Amino acid sequence: MHILSADQFTKKQLEELFALTSSIQQKFAQDKNEILQWHKGRVLITLFYEPSTRTRLSFASAAAHMGMSVISTENAREFSSAAKGETIEDTVRVLEQYAPDAVVIRHHETGEVARAAAATNVPIINAGDGKGEHPTQSLLDTYTIWQHFGKLTNLRIILGGDLLHGRTARSLAKLLACFEGNHIVFNTIPELQMADDIKQYLDDRGLTYEEESDMKKAFAQADVVYWTRLQKERLPEGVHIDQTYAIDTKAMGYMPDTAILMHPLPRVDEIATEVDNDPRAKYFTQAGNGMFVRMALLDTILTRLKQ
Ligand code: NCD
Repeated sequence: MHILSADQFTKKQLEELFALTSSIQQKFAQDKNEILQWHKGRVLITLFYEPSTRTRLSFASAAAHMGMSVISTENAREFSSAAKGETIEDTVRVLEQYAPDAVVIRHHETGEVARAAAATNVPIINAGDGKGEHPTQSLLDTYTIWQHFGKLTNLRIILGGDLLHGRTARSLAKLLACFEGNHIVFNTIPELQMADDIKQYLDDRGLTYEEESDMKKAFAQADVVYWTRLQKERLPEGVHIDQTYAIDTKAMGYMPDTAILMHPLPRVDEIATEVDNDPRAKYFTQAGNGMFVRMALLDTILTRLKQ
């Protein structure tokens, strides 16, 4: 079972995963040692061709807390045989020989992780592929929303920032379409608008959305404001875009008291640090949830394989 796209999850699977995540989170607080026995002797490989802090280290921590060993390369673009011209298919075929139980891959090119998955039976987990998808980020994002509101239905979610080059908002939009009554507001500048394939995906599933460039109007009845950084590394050569959509204390004033502000991190300057102490700012809680969601995901993959 590979994890390649947010498309592949059903509402039922998400609800099961969130229930498991929540129980792991509670168990972890009570008795970490029990969890440490769960996957002793199993091996996780993480193969990252692009920079990462949270995704790689939360996967590694998730695996370590469940007793797994983690073997890791963090700059595979430079330091793996990819630099010598090896295809990703050959790389995973070789990794397969080392008998890992799962391999987590981040790649700078869209679709490369799926190519790796097609070449092996070892479960491959997409940790972000170019401007394609970041399915495990969207799992922790929706888990955070579910944990806060106790539901994932009938919410008004504002997706802002770099919607064109960012993969997290794309995967999140797909997962939100698994639940009824949600409404998405895309709040960005025309050059960074959400791509048509995602809009089509939402149309096909009957999830409503609108584009609203005015931050004040977009935030007015929000339940969730999900903000993202300008993906400078993905801009075509010669293209320069000014960062014009920062959230500061004034912008927080446009949001209802009951709303939450999320961000996949890293944040650059699109959320001012003065916002961090606002109780509605949930991005650090969100990042912390990442480890627990990834524990639940790994446990689900590894347990299913065992049966
Ligand atoms: C995101 C990513 O890699 O797409 N980071 C993350 O995994 N939390 C967001 C980003 O880099 O902007």
